[in-house]
This record gives sequence, C-alpha cells and structure tokens, in this order.
Amino acid sequence: MSSTWIEPERSECERRLQAAVPAASEAPQRLHQAMRHSLLGGGKRLRPLLCRAAARAIVGSDCELAWTPAVAVELVHTYSLIHDDLPALDNDELRRGQPTCHVVFGEALAILAGDALLTRAFAVLAAAPEAAAMVAVLAAAAGTPGGMVAGQVADMEARRDAPLAAVRAIHERKTAALLRASLVLGARAAGAGAAQQEALGRCGAALGLAFQIADDVLDASASSAELGKTAGKDAAQNKATWVAAVGLEAACRTAADLTAEAEAALGHFGPAADHLRDLARLITARRG
Ligand code: IPE
Ligand code: IPE
Ligand code: MG
Ligand code: MG
Ligand code: MG
Repeated sequence: MSSTWIEPERSECERRLQAAVPAASEAPQRLHQAMRHSLLGGGKRLRPLLCRAAARAIVGSDCELAWTPAVAVELVHTYSLIHDDLPALDNDELRRGQPTCHVVFGEALAILAGDALLTRAFAVLAAAPEAAAMVAVLAAAAGTPGGMVAGQVADMEARRDAPLAAVRAIHERKTAALLRASLVLGARAAGAGAAQQEALGRCGAALGLAFQIADDVLDASASSAELGKTAGKDAAQNKATWVAAVGLEAACRTAADLTAEAEAALGHFGPAADHLRDLARLITARRG
C-alpha cells in the first residue's frame, strides 16, 4: 500500500487490536495465545482502514469514534479466517505468513479462539454510541442468510464448474457483506444520514466483490510468499471462483469495473473521500 497516510493508520490499528483482546499471560493462556497469534502481526487491515476512511468521508477529518467498529470488523474477519482454514473447511496451513491457528494450537483451540474473537467483536461494539443499530449491521454481515457464514456454506457446497451467477452469490455473502458493513459502520459512527450510508454501502458492496475477485485472481497467479497463504489452492480444491467461471483476464477486467463503480458511488463526497479512493485503487492493484 503506497499512500502515506496508510502506514501510520495501520500502526494505530495494530495498537488498538493489541488492546482489544486479553493478554497472553491471562488465563486461559493457550486460548489467548491462539487469539493473539491469528489477530496480531500480520494482515492488511483493509476492513478497519475502510471503516475509518468511510467515517472520514462523512466528517472530512479524523473520526476517533470510528475506531470502535474498525476493531470489531477486524475481530470478526480474523475469526472467519481461523475457521476458513480449519481442516473441515479449506484445510490451510499458512495464513498471514505464519502457520495457521489449528496447526500451532490444535483444532479445538482454533475453533474456540474463533468463537472468542467473534464474541469479543460484539463486546467491543456494544460500547459504541448507538450500539444496538451497529450490532445489527455487523451481525447481519457476519451471519446468515445474507452474510459471511451463509456465503461460506455456499462456497463449501459449490464446485469449480459453478456458473458465474452462483459464484457472485457466494462472493457477495462470504466477503463483500463484511467489507460493505465496514463502510456502513464507519459512516454510522460518524453520524451519517440514510442517503450517505446507502451511497457508502453501495461503494462497499462493489469494493467487496472486487476484493474477492482479486483474491481469486491472486490465488491463481501470485506466489505463497507474496500472499502469506497457500497459492493455487482454489484449483487444487475444485473451488468455485471468478477465475474458474470466466478466466483470469475477464476476472481482472470485472474487478477493475467494480472498482470504478465503487469510485462512482463516492461522487458526491469530494476530497473527504480521498482515503476511500486510495483504498479502492489498492484493492485491484495489490499483489498480496
Ligand atoms: C482474506 O482476506 C480472506 C478474504 C475474504 C479474501 P484478506 O486478504 O483481507 O486477509 P488479511 O486480513 O490481509 O490477512
Ligand atoms: C474466504 O475466502 C472468505 C472468508 C470468509 C474467510 P477464501 O477461502 O478464498 O479466503 P482465503 O483465500 O483462504 O484467504
Ligand atoms: Mg474459503
Ligand atoms: Mg480459504
Ligand atoms: Mg482465496
């Protein structure tokens, strides 16, 4: 990521994530070590960055209140990664450049670390002003029928010959729902009105779909070292992906089109939305 504001923002995010979960020395130590292993020291922090950038689009300057949902979405995301990597799901051994949670701590603790991160996300969000509405947004994006868990089930049941419409329905739920919620929650934290939330929600939905298409493209074209996770897994595991449905080139084009669609949804926000524009461009330009 190249824009100068991103690194300091990410460092602050690391600091707040460190503080959001119990210390490794606190009992039950192995659980807390497992949570911290997966949460800290890796990860692009895209969802917190989007959440904070959406809040900035509303207020035109830094919005401290957006840190609460920013931390909450990263906690949910990290739980989803731990469970996604389990032997019963994608059976992956590398994540964020490290061995996956179940490889280091065993399956039982990995499941429970995921549970604890998910639960902690809602405890964090409960401290926000107007917490009830925010909790409802995050729960819908994380759960079922329109959220991440439903998308993971559809992902699990689909095969590589799935038609594009089915892949789209998977990607919208397993990935785009939480990215969209990241923007909506940032907007809410900043006091956005309904029309502003709707515009940022559209931006987030388009970015979220572009992001998962880029993830499918990278799985098929980048190295494990670049990704910090195992490359080439989707083909090996017969997964339904955008690349399998339409090929690499068409997938790249669609991701670029969706990024443009996301930027178009920011039309009325002016320079206040420049951080969001930076992040939108990074989503299709990234190599890891
Ligand atoms: C990986 O997400 C899982 C998907 C939804 C594609 P990220 O690519 O954001 O993973 P981290 O947080 O940077 O590790
Ligand atoms: C993951 O999709 C979506 C989640 C909800 C975690 P993938 O299975 O493609 O994510 P990676 O490639 O393992 O990060
Ligand atoms: Mg998966
Ligand atoms: Mg996976
Ligand atoms: Mg993937």
